[in-house]
Amino acid sequence: MKRILTIVGARPQFIKAAAISHIIKEKYFNSLQEDILHTGQHYDQSLSGRFFSELDLPQPKYNLGVGSCSHGRQTALMLGGIEDILLDNPYDGVLVYGDTNSTLAGALAAAKLHIPVYHVEAGLRSFNCDMPEELNRILTDHASHLLFAPTKTAVQNLKNEGFNEEKIIFSGDVMLDNVRYYSSVHSLGLNANTEFILATIHRNFNTDIPERLTNILSAINDISELFHTEILFPLHPRTRKAIDSMNLTYNTNHIRFIEPLSYLETLSALQKARLVLTDSGGLQKETNFSGKACVILRPETEWVELVEDGSAILADADRQKIVESARKLIDKTIEPNRLFGDGNAAEIIVKKIIS
Ligand code: UD1
Repeated sequence: MKRILTIVGARPQFIKAAAISHIIKEKYFNSLQEDILHTGQHYDQSLSGRFFSELDLPQPKYNLGVGSCSHGRQTALMLGGIEDILLDNPYDGVLVYGDTNSTLAGALAAAKLHIPVYHVEAGLRSFNCDMPEELNRILTDHASHLLFAPTKTAVQNLKNEGFNEEKIIFSGDVMLDNVRYYSSVHSLGLNANTEFILATIHRNFNTDIPERLTNILSAINDISELFHTEILFPLHPRTRKAIDSMNLTYNTNHIRFIEPLSYLETLSALQKARLVLTDSGGLQKETNFSGKACVILRPETEWVELVEDGSAILADADRQKIVESARKLIDKTIEPNRLFGDGNAAEIIVKKIIS
């Protein structure tokens, strides 16, 4: 029996980890034992606790409770805490997801102890080194033993950077596994009788630069008036703080600011939304997998396949471009992109780790 430690800390990681945990629990419990370590990067019930219950994710065996602080300090606190746990407990491997500070800390702590690191969502690149996530994902890839790439573009990025090809596995995207799994077994119950457009932002370059935040909110307001449709806008705590600290002098009457949605509420909202506006990487894909179109509120994306197939448009924080993109994409029915694997990424990953 092999033992692995799964390291998570932020909202998208709970969702990705659920796909792997389900497969282990259902089919591979005789070969692989998984423990979960939560760094505590996200600690609000709305960003953390409820995902464990809703996704039926095993409760973390360890919780470092690091909370919010500067990126360097947050990563350092995690690094020390994870190392202590790995020194006291023999694990055969460490599983990390995506590109957050928790991902980097987990990968680094394990690699320095010569424990194999398995990186799920390896090879993604925005080629924008100002993003903390870009630095995290590049460094994590270099510390990893196995690189599970969600797309062929990600595979190619790794090859271009000279990674040993034996380490690279095209697994497909665990988020596609999840969309299929949860859409089929749960009845999704969000009370929204009226038509709406779904909008979210949380990236620091959108929330912390007032001009960008103002442009985005103005564009969203324009879109609401143009299509006579309410905007459903779940607020990440970072975004709420930024909006609260600004003196909003324009009309946001048509924007319904709400608490962050749960995962199942998000899937439900995607089924009903006329369009999605977001800077979230995960939501871009879930929108596509749900057959809807997306305006991406960033200058670039790691998920280039969505832009190439015309189901998403990069509009950055440009008010006019956001409105024009919405005009092109509103109510468009999308054929879900087939470049994200077959919806069995989690099983490919678990089998490879065991072997
Ligand atoms: C982090 C990830 C990002 C991921 C996102 C999902 C990094 C560098 N970024 O961004 O890749 O897409 O999570 O949400 O790791 N806060 C709370 N309550 C919480 C957590 C955070 O109020 O439970 C506030 C804190 O003031 C914090 C701010 O939100 O300073 C930002 O949190 P942080 O973990 O730094 O990054 P995210 O923006 O959530």
